[in-house]
Amino acid sequence: MKRLTIPAIRKAKGGTPLVMLTAYTVRTAQLLDPHCDILLVGDSLGQVIYGLPSTVPVTLDMMAAHGAAVVRGSYHSVVVIDMPFGSYEASPEKAFENAAWILKQTGAAAVKMEGGEAMAPTVRFLSERGIPVMGHVGLTPQAVNILGGYGARGRSKVEADKIVADAVAVAEAGAFAIVVEGVVEPIAIEITQKVVCPTIGIGASAECDGQVLVAEDMLGMFERTPRFVKRFDDLAGRISAAVETYAADVRSRRFPGSEQTYAPKD
Ligand code: KIV
Ligand code: NA
Repeated sequence: MKRLTIPAIRKAKGGTPLVMLTAYTVRTAQLLDPHCDILLVGDSLGQVIYGLPSTVPVTLDMMAAHGAAVVRGSYHSVVVIDMPFGSYEASPEKAFENAAWILKQTGAAAVKMEGGEAMAPTVRFLSERGIPVMGHVGLTPQAVNILGGYGARGRSKVEADKIVADAVAVAEAGAFAIVVEGVVEPIAIEITQKVVCPTIGIGASAECDGQVLVAEDMLGMFERTPRFVKRFDDLAGRISAAVETYAADVRSRRFPGSEQTYAPKD
């Protein structure tokens, strides 16, 4: 299987929904890759891997280390890396420098950046210079200090219109796809109808051109997850049970057994 390309992702608009999941480590990437179209090295790794309170403290170095691991663990999906907070907002030139650096460090194909109308010139600057950009509108977690939390966006007419305008601006600037996160469903549908590139929903709508979730969320690694997460397994419960059995086996000397120990040569 050849690795999918950005034009192939673009062409998926209106077709079979795109399948995207986050991946931060090589083994997870290996397991998810055959089933996905896009692997996202999300800055959600700040909370999921590092226990940080938000994505705001995540650094370019963290994204580069995990991005390289995910590229090494995949051969089919397009790998997209989140630009962390502070690495792209100041100017298109700064964004280009950091995005080029992270693509060189990792071998990933594209970057994702949060923001709407204000970021559109940056999306254009990068797209016209060889760096494919995935947009991200609606609930943008890096803006948590402005938004005050992670509640769904677009409940008022003013906010709804702004989010649609954001998506249209980013699409017209050349984004190859746009994540639409945490918005009331009619907005996700309106955006999907209005923009030429695929929309990828999370807490959005089944009518989006694709869906994304944090892999650890959909695998059931956490006790509590937001409304928009469907848990497809209970890995937390299964890991706890396995570790409980291991601990009991160690303490009772049932582990290691004869199959796990080396006999001397005779
Ligand atoms: O960082 C992340 O995981 C994301 C997705 C949830 C879209 O940005
Ligand atoms: Na993110």
